[in-house]
Amino acid sequence: ALIDPHVHFRVPGGEHKEDWQTGARAAIAGGVTTVFDMPNNTPACTTADRLEEKTSLIEAQLTEANTPLRYHLYLGASETTIGEITRAHGKYIGIKVFLGQSTGDLLMDKPEVFARVCKTAAELGAIVAVHCEDEAVMQQKKQSLAPEELADVRNHPRIRDREAAIVALQNAIAMGKKYGTKLYILHASTKEEVELIRQAKRDGLNIALETTPHHLFLNETAFATLGTKAQMNPPLRTREDQTALWAGINDGTIDTIGTDHAPHTLEEKAKPYGQAPSGVPGIETILPLFLTAVRDGKLTLDQLTRVTRINAEKFFGLKRNDDVVLVDMNTIKKVNGAMLQTKSKWSPFEGWELVGWPVYTILRGQIFKVQ
Ligand code: DOR
Ligand code: ZN
Repeated sequence: ALIDPHVHFRVPGGEHKEDWQTGARAAIAGGVTTVFDMPNNTPACTTADRLEEKTSLIEAQLTEANTPLRYHLYLGASETTIGEITRAHGKYIGIKVFLGQSTGDLLMDKPEVFARVCKTAAELGAIVAVHCEDEAVMQQKKQSLAPEELADVRNHPRIRDREAAIVALQNAIAMGKKYGTKLYILHASTKEEVELIRQAKRDGLNIALETTPHHLFLNETAFATLGTKAQMNPPLRTREDQTALWAGINDGTIDTIGTDHAPHTLEEKAKPYGQAPSGVPGIETILPLFLTAVRDGKLTLDQLTRVTRINAEKFFGLKRNDDVVLVDMNTIKKVNGAMLQTKSKWSPFEGWELVGWPVYTILRGQIFKVQ
């Protein structure tokens, strides 16, 4: 079964989008038995106490759902809670840093604070997971666009320009070099990020790179048909970037696929650009997307097991489990958002014909019939 190192299950504060009952069902339906949940909740999960409170809420919801999903939580880094990195050590899987503003109020736009986070983490041997989009670059790009341009979702990749991703990643790599921090780079979207990590690994840095299903399977032409349903941070990029991401999967530069399962309701996504939130659900479609890609020769089954499980297990130091997902490689089925378990009930891959849908997921010896 899969490990998804990047989900937003929205507890506490965003339960109308997802909770751990619907999230766990969605995970199992997707063949995922371990998730790492992000801290951009309301309130943000930035302290040992909040980690504890969040854990109690999750435990209650998983018990209610009768689904003993495996999970780990990220601690959100913020300027006023740096001490919590040490206080909560052992209770989190990694420390999440947003170098640019996204959903929620976690933002770390001061380089000296980011440096303190990286130094503290290095001393503890903790992993820093970085959302690489530089806030200053994004503000600059925003100011260069006219009001009508700022109202057009097709400009999402101009505002959150690739340069923001590149500059932020360069800064993160510099921190890794300076302090020896173990870095997990979230959702790579550009060819330049793949190349920077390829070089960083050659230089011997302890660094892992994640990308997402949507950055591999979609590009910015999707705005024409999907509108704000194709809006997420970092944005979709070009065909050339997609090609580079696939090359990164094939040569091992990219270590993991995180779905960045970021559910928002259809009502929220129907708002005009500027008001619609960024993010797409993805935990139930990851496996059929990639198994269809295996069928089509885009990656091998061995590579798929590495990027969806083995590499995350190694990098984050998880104990091996014997969870399994059984899939059907013969039946072609269309993605149907309304049939998904996620509370958000939609998918950016609506109508795609895919093979490799999970049939049974086995979690801690418990058999879940998925379809
Ligand atoms: O698209 C995104 N959605 N990117 C993020 O950084 C956050 C996420 C969310 O929580 O909605
Ligand atoms: Zn995310």
